[in-house]
Amino acid sequence: MAKGTLATLLAGFATAVTARHCQNLTVPISISSQNGNFTMQAPSTNIQVTDFILDFSRPGTNYSASVLSGANSNSSSNSSASASATAFATVSGTYAIAATYCEPDAGPGHVLQVLTHGIGFDRSYWDLSAHAYNYSYAAAATARGYSTFAFDRLGIAESFQPGADPVNDIQAWLEIAALKQLTASLRDAQVPGIAARFDKIVHVGHSFGSIQTYGLTAADPGASDGIALTGFSQRSEFVPYFELGGDFVMANGVPSLVTYPHGYLASGSISAVQTNFFAPGQFDPDILDVAYTTGKPVTVGELLTLGAPASAVNPFEGPVLVITGERDVPFCGGNCLASEPSIPSASKQYFPNTTDFETVIVPGAGHGLNLEYSWPTTYSSILDFFDKNVQS
Ligand SMILES: *[C@@H]1O[C@H](CO)[C@@H](O)[C@H](O)[C@H]1NC(C)=O
Ligand SMILES: *[C@@H]1O[C@H](CO)[C@@H](O)[C@H](O)[C@H]1NC(C)=O
Ligand SMILES: *[C@@H]1O[C@H](CO)[C@@H](O)[C@H](O)[C@H]1NC(C)=O
Ligand SMILES: *[C@@H]1O[C@H](CO)[C@@H](O)[C@H](O)[C@H]1NC(C)=O
Ligand SMILES: *[C@@H]1O[C@H](CO)[C@@H](O)[C@H](O)[C@H]1NC(C)=O
Repeated sequence: MAKGTLATLLAGFATAVTARHCQNLTVPISISSQNGNFTMQAPSTNIQVTDFILDFSRPGTNYSASVLSGANSNSSSNSSASASATAFATVSGTYAIAATYCEPDAGPGHVLQVLTHGIGFDRSYWDLSAHAYNYSYAAAATARGYSTFAFDRLGIAESFQPGADPVNDIQAWLEIAALKQLTASLRDAQVPGIAARFDKIVHVGHSFGSIQTYGLTAADPGASDGIALTGFSQRSEFVPYFELGGDFVMANGVPSLVTYPHGYLASGSISAVQTNFFAPGQFDPDILDVAYTTGKPVTVGELLTLGAPASAVNPFEGPVLVITGERDVPFCGGNCLASEPSIPSASKQYFPNTTDFETVIVPGAGHGLNLEYSWPTTYSSILDFFDKNVQS
């Protein structure tokens, strides 16, 4: 590209960036959830991490169920009663959630989008500063008149909770409770720093964030006015590809993640991040580098509760978009078109009461949709969907 062209492009991006106003917030929440009570100890060596991944990724087994407290007791009626008493545990607490709220310069949007990131990232997934915010979903959304609220999931990055157990506290269930409480506080204009009241609140997730968005609306269909599940399907048999492809190691053995306790795992190499998130020919190597060097860990408790929130039929009645890259590994095994019309489109049957259900398969894209060259297709598909079904 000629120098002048790049400068013009960058000037264009700078204009787009200044057309919005963002602020960082810390949001206190008090929540509780029914968590799995797992007997597993947090791994404390890389060999134990690999053993866990090998145990966890075997087809035909449910490792999570096998390490639930009481799962291995004998089958007399007394011991199964005590097993059910301890297999699940109530976890409660007051936690601080780190978030970034953005609105158009013209003022708050009528519709707020709540953005939940997936495994390996933090809230910057939605607003990557690299390459002058070229890859920012939040910038694209505010340019269309939406406000955005992106947060670091409970237990991760700036929402790390000292003292919380990465096996039995930081699980999908507690994180869904956090998403529910954040949404309720946003609706009631109770989040310190955000005075606006929104007509509608929609939710966008990526990957595990989509699973949590699904879980939120499955348990509490009134919580959202519309959802976009990105990097998602409800087929679970490809998750082992992600587990084995991720080259997981102890997070605190990775220089940028040394402060995390045992029980937090991270990708051990840049190639593992490429395998799980970036499709061939679809990305800028600089952006892969950013994804790896700023990558965030996952807890054992998150992995043990990864799929369960998206396994039930969902009574949600609002509009639902499922948008996934054609070559997504964790949710499609690398080919979302392997079944007709596509693997993600099978989610329609899980939303019997939704009138507006759409599936988009992004040609050639991998799992990390926001970070690939195809982001213009991804962003416009999501924003067109909300413009049509929620904003109007
Ligand atoms: C918000 O915090 C992030 C990460 O700590 C930082 O990179 C970003 O510049 C901050 N944004 C604003 C608007 O202060
Ligand atoms: C595995 O077991 C857990 C705990 O009983 C359950 O929530 C989950 O749905 C099961 N997963 C599958 C794929 O059956
Ligand atoms: C979790 O299970 C253990 C036994 O494995 C039990 O001692 C403990 O009380 C259980 N926790 C809760 C909160 O039920
Ligand atoms: C869908 O709506 C019908 C009619 O209101 C209701 O009977 C049914 O239980 C709902 N389905 C789900 C999955 O909630
Ligand atoms: C911005 O994204 C577009 C679309 O993927 C890409 O073609 C372009 O090279 C990117 N520019 C920069 C400066 O990263």
